[in-house]
Amino acid sequence: MCGIIGYIGPKPVVPLLLEGLKRMEYRGYDSAGVAVVEGAQITTRRAVGKIAKLESLLTKEPVAGTMGIGHTRWATHGPPTERNAHPHRSTDGSVVVVHNGIIENAPALRATLKELGYTFTSETDTEVIAHLVEEMFDGSLEEAVANALKKLEGTYGIAVMSEKDPGKIVAARKGSPLLVGLGDGENFLASDASAILAHTRQVVYLNDGDLVVVEKDRYHITDIDATPLPRKVDRIDWDLAEIERGGYPHFMLKEIFEQPQTVENTMRGRLIVEDGTSKLGGLNLTHEQLMAIDNIVITACGTSWHSALIGEMMIEELCRIPVEVEYASEFRYRNPIINERTLCIVISQSGETADTLAAMREAKRRGARTLGLVNVVGSTIAREDDGGIYLHAGPEIGVASTKAFTSQVIALALFTLKLARKRGLSVTRGMAIAQALAALPAQIQQVLDQAQAIEDIAEEYKRASNFLYLGRGFEFPVALEGALKLKEISYIHAEGYPAAEMKHGPIALIDELMPVVFVAPHDAVFEKVVSNLQEVRARKGRIIVITSRPEPALDGLVDYEIRIPETEDMLMPVLAAIPLQLLAYYIAVKRGSNVDQPRNLAKSVTVE
Ligand code: G6P
Repeated sequence: MCGIIGYIGPKPVVPLLLEGLKRMEYRGYDSAGVAVVEGAQITTRRAVGKIAKLESLLTKEPVAGTMGIGHTRWATHGPPTERNAHPHRSTDGSVVVVHNGIIENAPALRATLKELGYTFTSETDTEVIAHLVEEMFDGSLEEAVANALKKLEGTYGIAVMSEKDPGKIVAARKGSPLLVGLGDGENFLASDASAILAHTRQVVYLNDGDLVVVEKDRYHITDIDATPLPRKVDRIDWDLAEIERGGYPHFMLKEIFEQPQTVENTMRGRLIVEDGTSKLGGLNLTHEQLMAIDNIVITACGTSWHSALIGEMMIEELCRIPVEVEYASEFRYRNPIINERTLCIVISQSGETADTLAAMREAKRRGARTLGLVNVVGSTIAREDDGGIYLHAGPEIGVASTKAFTSQVIALALFTLKLARKRGLSVTRGMAIAQALAALPAQIQQVLDQAQAIEDIAEEYKRASNFLYLGRGFEFPVALEGALKLKEISYIHAEGYPAAEMKHGPIALIDELMPVVFVAPHDAVFEKVVSNLQEVRARKGRIIVITSRPEPALDGLVDYEIRIPETEDMLMPVLAAIPLQLLAYYIAVKRGSNVDQPRNLAKSVTVE
């Protein structure tokens, strides 16, 4: 979603801002803009569409300076037009603001400010901040921003500059991530570490309620009542190469192909094969606390919600603890039955999804212990949970989640193994699962080696208007995930369904134009799925099957077969998801979609 970048130092700021904005393109946006301090004046340039449009505008109408802020906007209030693009300016032009988040009381503030004589030029909620800061200004920008923030309800990450108090960028956060990047005689501000990684690895993550004044050789963090706050300096431990495409045509393809390593990284140092268990350093749960868990709630959104469904089945089967999976957006507004004997597992690649974060806070408020399965180190969920398992999958840039999904399933398996062994799972059974986990990276490679065959299938079906994905047991969430991948990036309508449930509706859609993907490895429910497959065939549906053995029962029934290696049933989703990722990828590429930045989607959804 929206991205913020800021710079103050000795270097020309425009290339730095543009580079930072490009690094955040993956988050999803529909317009962009910059504000640059030029002598005593601040000049803004804004453009609808991709950063390239802003870049060509800046070539035609250049601005120059060594201090500025930039923004990518994902439209919430008002369409993606130039007038609605950030930065926004106050009525007298002295204040410029970029903002991520939503100001909920913007309509009321807008009315009050209009009465005071302020003129609005956009439909955004953000514009009220600019006028409000102008209204509050009395010589100090940080004081004006702090006083303006006291009037705001909602969420924000903001960066503000003023012509009347030059030499500083004032930024603040409540519910929308921001960090300060520390350089030598220069400092940065960003909503996403990848925006500044090329320049510094030293960062200070802001907490909700923090306000920071960034100057070129100092920064100062306080709360909005000006009380100084100590914040530690962190080091980003990933490389620039990890956020670059490395020879692949798209980040998504790179990330799909990285999965042998990323899955290995999620397990590294954690799997204890000889004891059939795992070691999870960040769990922060004592033996007694683990034994005292009465029930588990897993909450997440999107792809992470699909891995949660797999986690539910693993935990219930091996640990015999009741598990419920909830969409975070639903959970936060229900009256869930949880207490201090509930463990709330929160799954989020980004660690910033607004609904997931709110659900976690709600669970904490009700006394549950929270455990975050998060990929982005230092993200808000990772900092606020009671314990965590980092995925260590490295930065995921493609909007459609791939390697984070498989790492989430692995992290859930590691956790299940640990809990199950404490709760009575035999060492022999634990060892079998641990061995199966250890074998996965090589097995993933075997699946990836079939990419060409999958591309051929994509060629055949690239013009389809609908797709159905069916699976049972552990493969039902995989069917959901396969359908989600396809619709996200190819814009083909796709549905995932439990294979047998198909008879209660989707079967009506089946004809010779409907491709049906069966996720049917040879697991406990294979025979049942074959019956469902016959039902589709009888109605002339086109069948692609993901299976794990040569099966006479499939002869003559299927159009295409993709063979994956066999593993424990609970780990099969890791292998079964990969051909579906590739199928979605190749179909989308063949249809000419922007695979890494599909329309309307955002990588990290920081608004409700
Ligand atoms: C967005 C992304 C999805 C992701 C979901 C949850 O919709 O496009 O890929 O699965 O958010 O994100 P999270 O970072 O919480 O896993």
